[in-house]
Parts: sequence; C-alpha cells; structure tokens
Amino acid sequence: MSIQIPRGTQDILPGTVEKWQYIEKVAKELCEQYQYKEIRTPLFEHTELFERGVGDTTDIVQKEMYTFEDRGERSLTLRPEGTAGVVRSFVQHKMFGQVNQPVKLFYNGPMFRYERPQAGRFRQFVQFGVEAIGSDDPSIDAEVISLAMELYERLGLKELKLVINSLGDKESRIAHKEALINHFKPRIDEFCADCQMRLEKNPLRILDCKKDRDHELMATAPSLADYLNEESSAYFKKLQHYLTLMGIEFEVDPNLVRGLDYYNHTAFEIMSSAEGFGAITTLCGGGRYNGLSEDLGGPSAPGIGFALSIERLLSALEAENIQLPVAAALDCYFVAMGDQAKDKVVELTYKARKHHLHAEMDTLNRKMKAQIKSADRLKAKYVAILGEDELNEGSIVVKNMETGHQENVPFEKLVDYLKQS
Ligand code: HAM
Repeated sequence: MSIQIPRGTQDILPGTVEKWQYIEKVAKELCEQYQYKEIRTPLFEHTELFERGVGDTTDIVQKEMYTFEDRGERSLTLRPEGTAGVVRSFVQHKMFGQVNQPVKLFYNGPMFRYERPQAGRFRQFVQFGVEAIGSDDPSIDAEVISLAMELYERLGLKELKLVINSLGDKESRIAHKEALINHFKPRIDEFCADCQMRLEKNPLRILDCKKDRDHELMATAPSLADYLNEESSAYFKKLQHYLTLMGIEFEVDPNLVRGLDYYNHTAFEIMSSAEGFGAITTLCGGGRYNGLSEDLGGPSAPGIGFALSIERLLSALEAENIQLPVAAALDCYFVAMGDQAKDKVVELTYKARKHHLHAEMDTLNRKMKAQIKSADRLKAKYVAILGEDELNEGSIVVKNMETGHQENVPFEKLVDYLKQS
C-alpha cells in the first residue's frame, strides 16, 4: 500500500495554496499598518518552556504535546502554540531594552497538537498571531483585538462574534480560586480524575472540563466577575470603552476561560456565527499574560496577543461563501508548430520570463490544437503562435484571447507588446 499522510495533517495543493498566500499577504500588510514586525522562532523548543509557559495542568501540556528526546537526551517539544516561544525570544534577546516599546511582533507558522482530528481540528495547523509586549494599557488590548477583527473583515467575513472577559489580576484570581476550591471540594469525588487533580492546583480548569460540563455544580460555580478587585474592573471597563470608541461590537461572557494558564485580565475569542460552520466555532483566541516573561526568567513585561488558525479561517470563508481574489495570472502561452519553431519558442519564453512576464509553453510536443486548449485552460491573456512562415519573417502571431484581436509582432518587439497591454 502506498504511504498516506499522518492523521490530522493535510497537503495544501496548488489551487488551494493561492488562498493561503492571499490570506498571508493581507495579514502581513495589516501588521505593517499596525506596526507589528515579523518574528520566526523554532518549530521545537525545550519541553520545559511549555510546561512553565502554557502551564502543566492544561490539556495542551498534559495530553497534546509532541514531545521527544533528541540524540543528546534533551526533552524537546514541537511547539503547540506561539506565545511561549515568542516571549522566550523576547527575554533571550533582551527586547525589553529596545528603544521602541512596546515590542510588537507577529508570526505565521505551523503548530502541533495531538488532538482528536475533526473538522477544524488538526494535529498540524498554521497559526497567524501577534504579541505586543511591554505595555499594560488597555488601549493596546483594544488594538490587538481590533487587528484580529480587521483581518477577518478585510477578507470579507461578516458573521463574527467577539466575546470578551476579564480574568482579573493575581489578587482577584487568588480570591476566586479559593472560592472555587470551597465550591467543588465537598463533592470533588463526583468529578473526573483530571478535575480531582486540578482542584488544588488550578480549579479554574475544572470549568473548562468536557467530561464534567453537565455536573450541577458547574452552573452554580462562583463567577470570576464577582471577584474582580477595583483595579481589574477598571481595566476591563476601559477596554470596553476603547472597543466602543472603535465601533467594535462585543459580548461580555463571564464564563470565557481560555485553555492556557498564562492569562490574566483580558481574555477574548472571536467566533463564526455563520450557518453551516462546524461544531467548533472559535476562529481566534487571545488575551493578556502579564506574568509570563517573569515565569520564563525575564523581567516584568506585560503582554497581550492572539492567534488564529488559517484552517478555521478558510472554513469560515467557505461557510459564508466568500471567494478570495486569487486568479492565477498568465500573460502569454507560446505555441510552436514544428521543430524549428520550437527552438525559437524556447528562446522567446525564456526571454519573456526574464522580463518578468508570466509565460508558459508546451513541453509535451503536442499538436497545435492541444497547445491552444492548454492556453485556454490556463486562462492566458495572449497566445503567441509561431509557424514556419512567421519564423522566416522574424515575427510571431499574437492573439488576444479576450477580444480575439490578432497581430503579427516582430520578435524584438514582442516583450514590449506583451507588457504594454
Ligand atoms: P488557542 O486558543 O490555543 O490560543 O489557539 C488559538 C487559535 O488557534 C484557535 O482559536 C484556533 O483558531 C487555532 N487552533 C487551535 N488548535 C487548533 C487545531 N487543533 N486545529 C486548527 N486550529 C487550531 C493560543 O494558541 C494562544 N497562543 C493565543 C495567544 C496569543 N494568546 C496570547 N497570544
């Protein structure tokens, strides 16, 4: 049997890859306008980075990482997300010392999670994300959220829902954590083994549990919103004020807890509300991570960011029936009749490409009719046909495929002719 692709991965073939390139181009332009610079970090990092960064009680770290030992017996992990690596790099390269603060970065690349594959859930997927590190002003939270929304809108998505929440600062979280422990502790033996383990260490994760989500204590669990101290509430209100000024609609969902441990204050997700979009409606997730730099051995450097997968973005575009403008361009298809003409066509095609034209020729020595069919299929703007008569005259017949207009063009004028029109 032939070898198949691993589960949860996909080949992105010509015909589809153009959509990816288009999205990546729009995202990059947007980042330039917002003054975010690209960063590329390794696809694998020391396992400890994710244990410390993402959190060792999270599903990602406990169940989903591709971890391996290399030949030097180091434990390495294929990155399941981008934030930990970016903050590691921020600390390692002392970006906190740069004159321009906050440091605003974006990335676009594959991430790996051993999840159960289904629509919208892959084991290798591509995240586009941004991280703004060095400011704890709510205006940058609003900026980051607006960047994500703007990307979706530029690509034509309309049916979007932005949900925000505040996870509060450390003090608020400690108060909430205590309340959660008191709430669940008396009946913790009715919960799954994972939740029992989470109780003391990270009870917030219990609210995220898929197995126990219908337990009656879930609905009555103390809400973080009631434990936010004054400072955290003020921060959250200011964020909402900025979003309102920007004209960005949002919903506050006090139950929004994200699946990674580094968050505090702002947490947000963007969902697709399009009909026909699969069960997993979250397109984008992000939030603030004020302690992460310190957790990774760096100085205090508050940050906020988001990540979204291109795979889910493409599904959302499909659900809303949006076609991206990705028609392939072909300026000229060269058709040769006879061996001598073929020699000249090889030369002319090369010359056209050297002058940055999109050019194609037949390399299967097919009959003229078949060559012209190819030109048609490739949607060539022009077809240039060379027979023996034209060869002797030093010219080539150029036909405009849209208008049907056709002209004899001398070889030396061909490139200019194709370029002008
Ligand atoms: P996350 O919520 O784990 O956050 O992932 C962000 C996004 O990545 C999701 O909303 C989804 O679009 C996509 N995604 C996650 N897992 C998969 C998968 N298995 N298949 C396809 N797409 C997937 C983070 O990763 C954080 N690092 C985001 C962040 C950046 N927070 C602050 N800065």
